Amino acid sequence: MKTVTTPEEVRAFTAALAREGKRLALVPTMGFLHEGHLSLMREGGRRADVVAATIFVNPAQFGPTEDLARYPRDPEGDAKKCASAGVALLYTPEPAIVYPPGYQTWVTVDEVSKGLCGDRRPGHFRGVATVVTKLLALFRPQVALFGEKDFQQLQVIRRLTADLELGVEIAGQPTIRETDGLAMSSRNAYLSPDERRRALALSQGLFEAQAAAKAGETKAAVLLARVRARLAQAEVREDYVELRHAETLAPLEVLAPTVPGRLLVAGFLGKTRLIDNVAIALG
Ligand code: PAJ
Repeated sequence: MKTVTTPEEVRAFTAALAREGKRLALVPTMGFLHEGHLSLMREGGRRADVVAATIFVNPAQFGPTEDLARYPRDPEGDAKKCASAGVALLYTPEPAIVYPPGYQTWVTVDEVSKGLCGDRRPGHFRGVATVVTKLLALFRPQVALFGEKDFQQLQVIRRLTADLELGVEIAGQPTIRETDGLAMSSRNAYLSPDERRRALALSQGLFEAQAAAKAGETKAAVLLARVRARLAQAEVREDYVELRHAETLAPLEVLAPTVPGRLLVAGFLGKTRLIDNVAIALG
C-alpha cells in the first residue's frame, strides 16, 4: 500500500490506473478505523480492480462546539488496517491542502440536508457534501462506498452525485454492529463503561420498533414511543427519533405496504452523540 498526502500524487496514481483500464473504488473516512470502515474497503475490492481510501478529519463538517479537536486518531494503526483490507492507495491530506488560504467553494444539498442531523448540526452536511465532492472529483472512481450507518449522509451524497452528474456509482452498505447490536462508530471510543452499556438502548429501541412494524403496527407515533421508552429507561438524552421515507427522507405518519420506511435515532450519552437507524417495513 502506498500512502500519499497531495492531490498531485493521487492524480499520478489514478492516471496510471486509467491507462491500464482498471476500475477504481473509493472509500472516504475520517479514520480511527473499525470493522464498519473495513467492510466498505473489502466490498470495494469485490466491485473494482483497485481500492483507494482516504483519512481526513474534515474540519468543515464540525460545528464550533463539536468534537473536532478531540476526534480520535490512530494514523499508524489505521494504515495497517487499510493495508490488510486490500487498500492500494491511502490519501491522508492535511487540512491546509484540502482548504488552502482563499478557499471559498461549497456544495450544499438543499432538501435532503433538512431535518434530522441537518437541523441539529448546522453546516454539517455542507461540509460533508463539499469534501466528498472534492474527493470524487480528485479520484474519479467508478464506485464509491458509504455506510448506511450515516443514512442521511448517504442520501445527501446520492443526491449530489446525481445532480452534479459525477458519473460514479454510490454503493450504500449495511451497518456493521458489535455482537450486542451497538452500531460501530469511531465515537464509541468516548464512552465510559457505564455509557457503553446504556448506549445499547439506541439499537434495542430500533429493533423493538422494527419487530412491532413486522407484527403489523403502522402508526409512527407508536413506533417512535417504543424507541423513546428504551432511551428514557437507559437515560439516553434524545436528540431525535423519526420515521422517514427511506429515499426522500420525507416524514411518515403511517407505514404503508409499498412505502420503504427508515427509523432514525440520535441521542446523547454525556457529551457523546451517537446515531443509528434501521429499515422498517410492515409484515
Ligand atoms: P466516518 O465516520 O469515518 O465514516 C466513513 C464511512 O464509514 C462512512 O461511509 C460511514 O457511513 C461508514 N461507517 C461508519 N460506521 C459504520 C458502520 N458501523 N457500518 C458500516 N459503515 C460504517 O462518514 C464520515 O466518516 C465522513 O462524514 C466522510 C463521509 C468521510 C466525509 O468526511
